Formats: sequence, C-alpha cells, structure tokens
Amino acid sequence: MINNRCLFVASDRAYSRQKNICHLLSVICHLVALTTTAAMAYFPKMGVVMNGGWIRSVGMLGCLIGLVISAMAVVSTPAAPQAGGQVDRGKYLVEELGRCGECHTPRTADGTLDRSRWLQGAPVWFKSLQPTSDWAYSAPPLAGLPSLSEADAMKVLEKGIGPNGYPVRPPMHDYHMNHEDAAAIVAYLKSLGGK
Ligand code: HEC
Repeated sequence: MINNRCLFVASDRAYSRQKNICHLLSVICHLVALTTTAAMAYFPKMGVVMNGGWIRSVGMLGCLIGLVISAMAVVSTPAAPQAGGQVDRGKYLVEELGRCGECHTPRTADGTLDRSRWLQGAPVWFKSLQPTSDWAYSAPPLAGLPSLSEADAMKVLEKGIGPNGYPVRPPMHDYHMNHEDAAAIVAYLKSLGGK
C-alpha cells in the first residue's frame, strides 16, 4: 500500500529522479519477495522437493529491503526542494504546454525565437482572421514579471482578467488554470529575473 502511494506521487509530480530510483528499487525488492513466496507455495505442488529455509530468507530479505526503501522514498518527499520542483513545473508548462514564448519572446531576423531575449515581450506578429476591435498588438514582457505583481499575474492565468481589471485581449488566451499550475508558472517567470 505504502509503496503504491509513493509510486503515485512520483508519477504525478515526477520531480526527483532520486525518488524514482528509490521506488524502482523498492518495486524490484517487492517482486523478489513475491516470486519467492509464490515459489514456496507452488514448488511442493509441482513435486519439487526443497528445503524452504533459504528461499524464505530471500523472500523476507526482499520484503524488508523493499519496505526500508519505500520508507526512505516517503521520508525524502518533503526534503525534495519544493521551490525547485515548482519552478521546473512552471518552466515545463510555459515551454511545452502553454508555448508562451511563441508570443512573449521576440524573434530574430530569420523568424526563430530569440532565446537570448526569452519572454522579454514582443510585438504580436499575426492578425486575427476575423475582424476584431479587441486585439492586442504587443505581448508584454514576462521574464522576472517586471510590470505585474504576482497576484495580478495569478489573476491573468486563473481568471483571464488583466491588471487593469478587464479581460485580457486576444490573442492572449483566456486561461482558467488551476491554482497550482498558475503558481508554478508565476514562480518560474519570477525566477527568470527581469532585464
Ligand atoms: C498567442 C499569443 C500568446 C500566447 C501563446 C500567450 N500570450 Fe500572454 N499575452 C499575449 C498578449 C497579446 C497579451 C496582451 C493582452 C492585452 O494587452 O490585453 C498577453 C498578456 C499576458 C499577461 C498580462 C501581462 C501584462 O503585463 O498585462 C500575462 C501575465 C501573460 N500574457 C502570460 C502568458 C503566459 C504565462 C502564457 C503561456 C502559458 C501566455 N501568456 C501565452 C499573447 C500571448
């Protein structure tokens, strides 16, 4: 049970490689314990005669090591650097899911994103297909949150409401993120530092 719980946490947050190795070792140990127990039960039925002493010791040892490693993984959970994990998650959400850089990062002459000015604000380079009076022509800088309080940034991501109290204009998305994701993104943006 305890093992299942930490496996779940590890896959849900996938923050610490160390913790995952812990889980893997623990699963292997439990498998050893399980197979030896099964062997003890079935070998006699199959007519294999054996002295159960050594095989029982291997099973017990596997189980014991598995439990110790599980406990280590659970204990090490709070020790994992929460801030680092949160910033990493924010980076992942920004770079892989939100692709915020597509609009908030300026481009080089050949049109690729200029990583040296990552999330430092850019003109919006495309127009709406449908005529709209409500279109923003620049995506403000986000690196280090130079022009927004953290609370304002949270409001943009959780409610789609800008710092002026009005809904953010397209092409910015009307995000309704959950609190944890929005906080992770804000922590990541903050960590970039303004330039
Ligand atoms: C398709 C282009 C586009 C994408 C993708 C995009 N944004 Fe925006 N964003 C904008 C534009 C344009 C504005 C300005 C909106 C306005 O002026 O009303 C804006 C505004 C904002 C603001 C308010 C900034 C301020 O100073 O008022 C925040 C915060 C923000 N975006 C964060 C993000 C984050 C985080 C992501 C990714 C999860 C993201 N944006 C993805 C275009 C985009």
